Amino acid sequence: MKPVKVGLLGLGTVGTGVVRIVEGHQEDLQNQTGSPIVIDKILVQDASKSRAVNIDPGKLTEDPWDIIHDPDISVIVEVMGGIELTKGYILEALARGKHVITANKDLMALHGPEILAAAQEHGCDVLYEASVAGGIPIIRTLVEGFSSDRITKIMGIVNGTTNYILTKMTQEGTVYSEALAEAQQLGYAEADPTSDVEGLDAARKMTILSTLGFRSNVALEDVDVKGISSVSREDILYAGRLGYVVKLLGIAESQDDFISVSVQPTMVKHSHPLASVNGVFNAVYVFGEAVGETMFYGAGAGEMPTATSIVADLVAVVKNLKLGVNGKQALLTYKLKKLKTDEQ
Ligand code: NDP
Ligand code: HSE
Repeated sequence: MKPVKVGLLGLGTVGTGVVRIVEGHQEDLQNQTGSPIVIDKILVQDASKSRAVNIDPGKLTEDPWDIIHDPDISVIVEVMGGIELTKGYILEALARGKHVITANKDLMALHGPEILAAAQEHGCDVLYEASVAGGIPIIRTLVEGFSSDRITKIMGIVNGTTNYILTKMTQEGTVYSEALAEAQQLGYAEADPTSDVEGLDAARKMTILSTLGFRSNVALEDVDVKGISSVSREDILYAGRLGYVVKLLGIAESQDDFISVSVQPTMVKHSHPLASVNGVFNAVYVFGEAVGETMFYGAGAGEMPTATSIVADLVAVVKNLKLGVNGKQALLTYKLKKLKTDEQ
């Protein structure tokens, strides 16, 4: 059996988890796909840095083109983050017929349509399950699990860092800056944590979820965003006295051809299931006309949960390779309807 060679862009928190799962679960992955999966080359910024996993130093490179232009590599896993540089690498990889897996919500929320169109043009897969809610398979669920229904509302906690901070402030009285530093230490926060605490990361995720869930072209600028940086310990105590906890909620609704999407700190009644979603955990409610209410819960960030979603995408790509159906899966073929806004 010919191995499928993978180029990994990034060996930080998530990249390390990908290496651990691909190596640790190799036999099982091979049983599922029929091929050995080999991480052949890894892009890093500094190849001399010590790494959290045992890696053959010969696999590390600081030259992206050494990976993207390598004809033997058929799948690129992008876990380096950033937007413009990364977009260029991904478009070049697609132009060379490579399939792409990414955890990059910043990129997909802003340039998803362009990247998916390029993938379609070149007959490639682009999968991005890890970009929303870490280890919860919410993208596949929305696109495939609810393909028979009309989704009317998507609501939940989709940022692990802010939920970790709010939980620490609520349960242990930890000060905001200390809780944020812990979330960074644990590998949950973005390289620039402003996007976590100001709600932008959650807004990007809600853009992706509402685009897929409502099968509409929701844009990031259509999302109303407010983060948690101005939430004080006093706000949390006051809410607690009234029987509420403060959570950063993303809420997307589709009604009569109108869509609204927002991210904001919200008082949630103690008795509501979202009130007990704590720490790095995320939860997403999906309401469908036919199915009614459903809820999905799990770790929303962190090395191994996020890597689980990436490697599941990798399995899907390798299975598609065996069947010769890359570029044809449902994630690429949903039809976008035009978003109506208040002005129309
Ligand atoms: P890290 O900062 O931990 O790792 C980034 C990696 O990419 C590092 O290995 C770094 O190299 C490499 N890198 C960064 N920029 C460049 C560059 N310009 N050229 C070459 N290599 C580069 O990030 P994470 O693993 O936390 O996150 C990666 C992606 O996954 C991001 O898009 C993030 O939003 C997303 N994500 C993260 C989650 C998490 O829980 N952390 C969860 C879900 C998604 P070096 O090691 O040499 O510095
Ligand atoms: N910074 C993100 C979070 C990582 O805290 O949710 C997972 O997307």
